[in-house]
Amino acid sequence: MNSRVELLSDLWQQRVSTAVHWLDENGLTGSVGLVLGSGLGNFVDSLTDITAVDYGDIPGFHSTSVAEHSGRMISGKAGDTTVLVMQGRLHPYEGLPYDELLLPIAVLAGTGINSVVLTNAAGGLNHQYEPGDLMVIRDHVDMHTGDPLRGLLKDKGQTVRSLRPSPVYDRELSRLLVNTGAENDVAMHTGVYASMWGPCYETRAEIGMLRRVGCDTVGMSTAAEAVLLSRLGVKVAGISCVTNPAREVGQPELSHQDVVETGLKVRDKVSRLLLAYLSKI
Ligand code: HPA
Repeated sequence: MNSRVELLSDLWQQRVSTAVHWLDENGLTGSVGLVLGSGLGNFVDSLTDITAVDYGDIPGFHSTSVAEHSGRMISGKAGDTTVLVMQGRLHPYEGLPYDELLLPIAVLAGTGINSVVLTNAAGGLNHQYEPGDLMVIRDHVDMHTGDPLRGLLKDKGQTVRSLRPSPVYDRELSRLLVNTGAENDVAMHTGVYASMWGPCYETRAEIGMLRRVGCDTVGMSTAAEAVLLSRLGVKVAGISCVTNPAREVGQPELSHQDVVETGLKVRDKVSRLLLAYLSKI
């Protein structure tokens, strides 16, 4: 187990080390981590030497309850790089306590990977963004109540807020993603992601608020994962895939199915980007 896990509380160290040990014994290892959001899971088809397990098989993990999120931990190779992939993630709106959602992320950190790319499906708040666009996350606004690290760290006496790493998203990795996109004909925006509770999409007033505070995309994940990883010393980059414009006046209700379908359209672009990125890292 990696020494970064020593930052976690005793209970968490135990839970993380049990899962890390199990993954190791079952041949799931990697030097780079990847979390694939809604509709992006097929990236794993680009990998070779695949080993896959359902989340429910890993000690302490919960299965996802959303039909389109497949919920598997997969290791494989992209060229010479070994990748540990979370295909699908748990979301706060599924009703589990926050720390249960973050266990798989703490386990990724515990395996000793060097860096993680978090991906998500998101609504576009920025008027320049269109469905199918990609955005490298420069920073986020986390609209969830409470701090994601509450109770997870060993030293509970320090205020977690003062420990929040800044920047959360690694500048070098983010630049590498943008440059890799440019070299592979995949245009990338750079901007700010807003993380909401869900599962409802935002009201018009919320969309107006998020735009006014400078957010460019909106979704229901990623922010807490990024904070935990960077606090544990793992370099993090994030990509939002714009699946829809955030709902404007007069637009029809947006369904999860709409989001998944546009996600399917961008997935080839994302796969091309990630494969090229992994070959450089
Ligand atoms: N809002 C929140 N989450 C989302 C959206 C959205 O418009 N699209 C995809 N995930």
